[in-house]
Amino acid sequence: MKSLESYLPYIQKAIDEHLQNPDFAEPAGLYEPCKYILQNGGKRVRASLVLMATKLFSGEFEKALPVALAFETFHNFTLIHDDIMDKASIRRGIPTVHVKWDENTAILSGDAVMIIAYRFFEESGEYVPQLFKLLNKTALEVCEGQQYDVDLEKSSLDDSFVSEEMYIKMIELKTSVLLAACLNAGAIVGGASKEDEKKMYEIGRQIGIAFQLQDDLLDTYGNQKTFGKKIGGDIQVNKKTYLLIKALETLQGKDKDQLINLMQTNSLEESDKYSKVVALYDKANVKKQTIDKIQEYFKNAMSLVDSIQLPDERKGELTAFMNELVNRNY
Ligand code: IPE
Ligand code: IPE
Ligand code: MG
Ligand code: MG
Ligand code: MG
Repeated sequence: MKSLESYLPYIQKAIDEHLQNPDFAEPAGLYEPCKYILQNGGKRVRASLVLMATKLFSGEFEKALPVALAFETFHNFTLIHDDIMDKASIRRGIPTVHVKWDENTAILSGDAVMIIAYRFFEESGEYVPQLFKLLNKTALEVCEGQQYDVDLEKSSLDDSFVSEEMYIKMIELKTSVLLAACLNAGAIVGGASKEDEKKMYEIGRQIGIAFQLQDDLLDTYGNQKTFGKKIGGDIQVNKKTYLLIKALETLQGKDKDQLINLMQTNSLEESDKYSKVVALYDKANVKKQTIDKIQEYFKNAMSLVDSIQLPDERKGELTAFMNELVNRNY
């Protein structure tokens, strides 16, 4: 089994059991969409990271389960609202909540999923105050990242706001701090030292940036069947991705002008816009540039893992997981 999947069945079972609670039955209009997002797949990366980090330091992962489910559920909440914001119609190969139901349902069910995330903390025993602080800080940062994402989407391409630096800041907040918090939380439950907790956070931050870069790459160059999301969604809504930023840096003259025009319009037919933008991305070799950047962050994360004073055999699970994460096609 791939290490990316080793905790999946365990996490899935725990979520299913939790959602059988009669508290989550009525009204169905509220809870059906919650179950739909929580039970229909996903890689379960956040929960797996928590469990792996706990196991790394304590040799067992079971006691971290409520915390793992809390972080995973929080992530699913962000997806419901993100899909409204990004006008995304497909996730995990099925219609998004706001498409299957409607926007109001997606807003309210998203709120409920967030509260369900916090309810998992009720079962987290002695670690609650520390973990609560970590999740709250992270949750606000994710909101900040999502706001930067929106601001960037709206900003004009000749605006200096649209830079690689700004892009990295945005993805650090919208995506990587949550992965960082998961490794940190797992380390807390596993009884790691303060120093190791900090290292685990930093590993998550580095790997989280690589993870979002890979997501951007797959959004343009992936396969809808395996990725589960609509290919070209970022191009369609004029997202300021790493691919776009690199293409604008690399292209010149009329190629650059054409890309700017394409990525500031909403009037072109979808597949026409996609193929024109991809042709320019190919010309600028952005796929390779993005893969190189992913590798840079991956290596940063790996050298931090190296610096943790534990036997290599113990760290193999986490390093294999991270490797698969940044080389995934789904
Ligand atoms: C999607 O996260 C949102 C990003 C931060 C890129 P995942 O790719 O982990 O989504 P699921 O949970 O596996 O579907
Ligand atoms: C998602 O980023 C970040 C959060 C949900 C907080 P994306 O918008 O790139 O994620 P996908 O591609 O929709 O999964
Ligand atoms: Mg988004
Ligand atoms: Mg999105
Ligand atoms: Mg994306």
